[in-house]
Amino acid sequence: MNDAAKTRTKKAGSARLDAADRELIAAAIAARECAHAPWSRFKVGAAARFGGEIVKGCNIEFDVYGLTNCAERTAVFAAYACGAARKPLTALAVVADTPQPVSPCGACRQVMFECGGPELRVLLANLSGDARVVRMGDLLPGGFALDPATPVQTAVARRSKIAARKRK
Ligand code: THU
Repeated sequence: MNDAAKTRTKKAGSARLDAADRELIAAAIAARECAHAPWSRFKVGAAARFGGEIVKGCNIEFDVYGLTNCAERTAVFAAYACGAARKPLTALAVVADTPQPVSPCGACRQVMFECGGPELRVLLANLSGDARVVRMGDLLPGGFALDPATPVQTAVARRSKIAARKRK
C-alpha cells in the first residue's frame, strides 16, 4: 500500500479496519483507476479476497448501457475466470469518490451473498478515507439461494456438492 492510501484509510470511521482491510481497500482504490465509465464518469473499484489471493474489479460501461458491469461483480467474475474462486471469498472492498462510503447495488449484493455467504466481510469506502465494515447478511437479509437445504452456496460448498454428485 502506498503512503497516500495509508493516510486516507486512517481517517474517520475506519477504527475497526485491520491491516488486511486496509490492504484490500488500497487494492480497490488501485482497481478503480482501471474503470471504464465513459457514460456515467462514475468510477468504482473493488477488491475481493479469495483465500490468500486478492482479485480486483472495476466498473465497465458499454454503449448499450444495460450491459454495464459493476466493479464488485467484475471482481467476483474475474476470480472465477482466474481460478481464485476455488478458495472461499472472505472479504470484499468497494470504493468510489462519494461523500459517504459507497454501497453495492442489489445485483452485486446477490452475487456477493451467493459467493461469500452472510458472514462475508464487506468494506465500504470512499476516496476521502471514510470506511464502514458491514456483514453481508446485513446488506442483503434473506438473499436467494438455489438449494434451500444449502442456504449459502459458497464457491467451495457448491463445488464439493457437484463432486459428490459425480461420485454417485
Ligand atoms: N456501479 C458499480 O460499479 N457498483 C455499484 O455497486 C453501483 C454502481 C457502477 C455502474 C455504473 O458503471 C456506474 O457505477 C454508475 O451507475
